[in-house]
Amino acid sequence: MVRSIESVAVIGAGTMGAGIAAASAAAGCRVLILDMNEDTVEAALQQVAEEDRDLVVTGLVDADLEAVSGYDWVCEAIVEDLSVKRNLFSRLEEIRKDGSVISSNTSGIPLRQISEGMPQRFRSDVAITHFFNPVKVMRLFELVPGDETDQEVISAFAEFGSGRLGKGVVHAKDTVNFIGNRIGCFFMLSGLHLAKPFLADGMSQETIDGVLGAPIGLPPTGLYGLIDLIGLDVMELVGKNLAANLPDADVGHEFTSFPDAEQRMHDSGQLGRKAGGGFYRQSKTPDGERLKESFDLASEDWRDAQTPHLEGVPMELGSIVFHDSPEGELAWKIFGGTLKYAASLVPEIADDVLNIDNAIRWGFNWVHGPFEMLDHLGPRRVIDRIRAEGEELPMMLEVLDKAGVGSFYRDQGREYLGIDGEYHPVSSSAD
Ligand code: NAI
Repeated sequence: MVRSIESVAVIGAGTMGAGIAAASAAAGCRVLILDMNEDTVEAALQQVAEEDRDLVVTGLVDADLEAVSGYDWVCEAIVEDLSVKRNLFSRLEEIRKDGSVISSNTSGIPLRQISEGMPQRFRSDVAITHFFNPVKVMRLFELVPGDETDQEVISAFAEFGSGRLGKGVVHAKDTVNFIGNRIGCFFMLSGLHLAKPFLADGMSQETIDGVLGAPIGLPPTGLYGLIDLIGLDVMELVGKNLAANLPDADVGHEFTSFPDAEQRMHDSGQLGRKAGGGFYRQSKTPDGERLKESFDLASEDWRDAQTPHLEGVPMELGSIVFHDSPEGELAWKIFGGTLKYAASLVPEIADDVLNIDNAIRWGFNWVHGPFEMLDHLGPRRVIDRIRAEGEELPMMLEVLDKAGVGSFYRDQGREYLGIDGEYHPVSSSAD
């Protein structure tokens, strides 16, 4: 059955639901917004641009759920709780019309757990549609089918995501945290642990963020600044979800909890920007001057922020990762470690390097994706170093090595290396 999405019912009008509703209305769709809480619904309506508001109908889940039958896409964006979500889906399944499609915006619950025991129509029509926050700004839209989802349903979501919402569609699999957060959270959680010896040797957090930011093509928040932005509470939940759902042999198991000092920060409510400070905080002195402070992880006390010490350190990806200095070593351990991890995850989390690169560029605002970065570093050089360190090659570097080629992309990015060791046109990757 060919599906087409012209109207959207969003259930759950918090941060994500409100964003999805506003984006859909801005794309000219009729939109229904439902929540349990009247004030939340009203606040979500206020986020819809004024000129689009006549496309929007609002209501409460208990009183108005029947209205869902008038919409093509039923998008669930309620609290991250499996049994609450399943309960809602069971009710929705009785109401939604034939031919409609249904999705969850979950950031971590496996689709197979949501679908288990649900009617066949649900299992054919459901997907995970994972937007990033803020929906209006972030380009990434991860699309995850279940084992029994119809291809037409996936095509309809992909077409709507890219054609109507202007998002970058990435095809992900039903694996923990999908693509963007699987790799992005590995960078953050492994980074906290692997940075410890460098901190112990006197490298400052500011220098660590200085290395793990602009020079390698990552946003200037680096490592600690990024976690401040996301929140230590969110990172803790992500870690627990990883611990429960990562495959047994995954190296990420080493990094699913915080180091001790970070755990104490979390437990005392020092959660990041939203809580007035995490690794950094900004305040005003009594005379109105701006004061930037850092939370020193060694003394576990606040001190004045320092400027990063980067004298003599090359400010360019290819040079810094191989630079013979503590900063170069840090870049190799943390950032190189993340690139190796990404290279080990094809085909587990995505069919090809392209979907991984797109997810990281669009979801984490890296200038280049992990495989584009590896090409920049020179995959052969990376392979030599991994071998010299006595480690096994991750999957995609092994593929590249066996194929006897020198890069993941060729012909100016028009072709990518597949897991079969052959190059394929970029346009042939499902998009
Ligand atoms: P939120 O807490 O801002 O909003 C959730 C809303 O759902 C609340 O307004 C609440 O009243 C409502 N709600 C709870 N139970 C309900 C029910 N049974 N029926 C109707 N409404 C109900 O949460 P947020 O951040 O918008 O997250 C929603 C979903 O999106 C979660 O599954 C979350 O994991 C996921 N997500 C969140 C991201 C983020 O950065 N905040 C990013 C990507 C996904």
